[in-house]
Order: sequence, then C-alpha cells, then structure tokens
Amino acid sequence: MTARRIGVVGAGYVGLTTAACLAHLGHVVHCVDTAAPRVARLRRGSVDIEEPRLAQLVSAGLRAGRLLFDTRLDTVAGCGIVVLCLPTPSGRGGAPDLRSVVSVAEAVAHVVTGPVVLVVKSTVPPGTAAALQRSAGDGPVDVVSNPEFLREGRSVDDFLRPDRIVVGGRRAEAVAAVVEMYHDISAPVIRTDWASAELAKYACNGFLAVKASYTNELADLCEAVGADVRDVTAVMAADPRIGRHFLAPGPGWGGSCLPKDTRGLLDTADRAGAVFDTVRAAVEANAHHRARLVRVVTEALTGDPEGELHGHRIGILGLTFKAGTDDTRDSPAVAVVQDLCARGATVTAYDPACGSRRAAAVDHDGAFQVVDEPLLAAKSASVIVVLTEWPEFRTIDWAAALREVVRPLVVDARNVLDPAVVTAGGFSYRGIGRP
Ligand code: UDX
Repeated sequence: MTARRIGVVGAGYVGLTTAACLAHLGHVVHCVDTAAPRVARLRRGSVDIEEPRLAQLVSAGLRAGRLLFDTRLDTVAGCGIVVLCLPTPSGRGGAPDLRSVVSVAEAVAHVVTGPVVLVVKSTVPPGTAAALQRSAGDGPVDVVSNPEFLREGRSVDDFLRPDRIVVGGRRAEAVAAVVEMYHDISAPVIRTDWASAELAKYACNGFLAVKASYTNELADLCEAVGADVRDVTAVMAADPRIGRHFLAPGPGWGGSCLPKDTRGLLDTADRAGAVFDTVRAAVEANAHHRARLVRVVTEALTGDPEGELHGHRIGILGLTFKAGTDDTRDSPAVAVVQDLCARGATVTAYDPACGSRRAAAVDHDGAFQVVDEPLLAAKSASVIVVLTEWPEFRTIDWAAALREVVRPLVVDARNVLDPAVVTAGGFSYRGIGRP
C-alpha cells in the first residue's frame, strides 16, 4: 500500500474511527474538528467515545506520529485525500441537513494546494456528490462517495473488517485513489457511480429497519396466537435468503442512524416522486410497536391498557438504544420511559453504560431517576421492565430483587433473561412474542 497524507474532517464517532483506523493502516492522518476541547483531549489521547480498541488505536497513532489533531482546516492543505465525516442530522420534513458537508467541502477547495480527492463518508441523499462536484468545478477537487457501514459498539471492527467497501465516483483515478487507501483491508470493493453509492447506504439501513419492524410485528402476532417468536425466527433464520441477523424483537429500533436514515430515504423518495411504502410502514410499525409495549406494561399494572399510572413505581433496566454502546440518542428505551412517565408512573432506571452521572444527558426533562445499581431500580417497583439487551441483566439476583419490589413482575422486552431464573427468584415473567 502507498502510505498517503490523508485529511479527516470531523472527529465524532465515524470520523475518529476513520482517522484512527487509517493511521493504523499506515497513512499519515490529519484529523480536524472545530471543537477545541475535543481536539485538546484527543491530542492527549483521551477518547470520550466508548468503542472497543478505539482509544488504543488513537494512542498508537499519536505515538507513531501518524495521527494529528487540529481545529484548523488548513492543516489538510497538503493532503491528497480529504474524508468528510460530518453530521447530517434530520432537518425539516426528514431531509438531512447538509450545511456542514457543503460548507466544509467549499472550504477544503479553498485550502488545498494541489489535486485532492474529496471523499464524502457522511450519509447523504443521492445527488449530493454531484452537486458538490458542480460547485467545486473541474479544478483540483474530485468528489468521491464512500459511505460508512459502522455499527455502534463495533465501529473499529466494522472499519477494519467490513462486509464491503463502496466507492462511487466519476473519474477513475479518483476512485482508484480511494480504493488504494483501503489497500490493506481484505473486503469486496464495489465501484459504482455517486448516486448508487449514496443510495446504497440508505437502502441498507432502510432494509434493516424493515426487517426489525417485521420481527417486532411478528412478535406481537406470536403473542396473539400463542406461538414463540424465538422458534419462528429460528425457522426463518435457517433460510439463507432471510439470514439470522436482525431477527430479535425489542422495544423498537432507534439510535443515531436508522431513524435518521429512514427519514432521509423517505424524503428522497418523496422528492423523486417514488413510492416507498415498505419503509414508511416500517417507520409507522416502529411507533405502533413501542406504544403497544407501553400499553402492555400499563395493563399489567392496572388491568387497563389505557390506565393511569399515578402511584405506580416502575423499575427500568436499560436506557441505551442497544447493548454494547453508551449511546441513548433516539433510544426506544428512553422513549418508552418517557411515555410511561407521561402516564403518571414514577420511573427509576439503571443502565450499565449510563450511570447517574450521565442522567442529564439521558433524560431531557428530569422526568425519571437514573441509578447506579439494578437493585436500586427495583426498589418499591410494581414492575421491572427490561428495555436493552445487556448481558449483565442475566446475572441479576432476583431473590434479592424480590425483597425490594412491591410486586414481583418482570416484563422482558428483549427476551434477554432466562424465564426459569427469573421465576425461580419469585417473579412472574413476561417476555415479548412468547406464550
Ligand atoms: C446501524 C447499521 O447497522 C450500520 O450499518 C450503519 O452504519 C449505522 O446504523 P447502529 O445504529 O449502530 O448501526 O445499530 P444497529 O446495530 O444496526 O441497531 C439499530 C437498531 O435496531 C437498534 O435500536 C437495535 O436495538 C435494533 N435491533 C437490531 C433490533 O431491534 N433487533 C435486532 O435484531 C437488531
């Protein structure tokens, strides 16, 4: 591989993973972020993003002198490749807000001193790379689309061992330069055009959302007909056309990507005058499924799915949008908690990755308490609800929890617990999609 001098703009979860991994591959990486405190921490090797191996790769890159952090964009002036890892949050109507991408792309064009391949790694709607190329003109800037497929909690592994590398561009030399950048990574490389690379990212996340919503609706149907969703999905998973991943029911899907990207995909379809009812239905099903879980808990406590929950204390296990991350952005667990609070419940929540010190970051309006021990969440609870599939919940001492609760009932919205262990501890157990 030819080691290159590469710029990475944005040191968030995608940018920092990208910068650290590219340095690990042997490149010299200038990582730029406008947040001076974050840059100062990163220069000291202090990583505030909980991703396995990320802190080690940052430290190794710093020690090797191949990973440099700065706030000034002109530090990428001498780079032949500049990778944009900037946020594209949902704007009005679901369209992603591209202002950061557009403004930084224009700024890069002004600071570079020679030919540069401008790599768009941010998730953007089809047509964005073409528009960036038009505004850059036919000068030294070549725009290439290179979407990321990093999952939170395993971003380094997903970067270094991807299922595929997607590179979309118009000029073959620019595409080749980006493919070469990943030279030491053994994965299928899919070369395509800008729009296909951009839409492929939306297509993947849209399909994952459909699959997760399908599984959640299937779980609800299993309960209605007395089937077991674990066995039904095991039958489905045996068919390689279906595959075994994303077949675990839960409180609904969330996080910082799927909700944003499904909205972006639907906005793209609307603007193009195309119908995309499957993803639209998956988004609606996701909201319905979460509301149904709130009704199931309410009915378990009051006998009425629409009952009032004043005076009821609920113990919550899990606030993050999935296990293995400390991220609560767009977490279905937090949404369920807020719905229960809106019905009058008093909620105490425990999450292994979100201690009480982070309560403010998690709970926007102070409606519920965050504690640092699972048994504290059980105190005086009329029901304990599991919302995130943290493995440590399988080691809870239910006999000890029994001494804390007002009523021994567990609703496991992730089927993460062993019913036999929970019932042996003196609790009634209700899973999701299980008889
Ligand atoms: C996702 C995509 O997987 C990744 O490729 C993309 O780059 C970014 O978005 P991530 O947001 O980290 O990654 O989470 P993911 O692991 O995909 O889970 C998304 C949501 O689906 C979570 O709320 C998770 O709990 C839910 N989910 C996942 C289920 O409810 N059931 C499952 O079986 C799997």
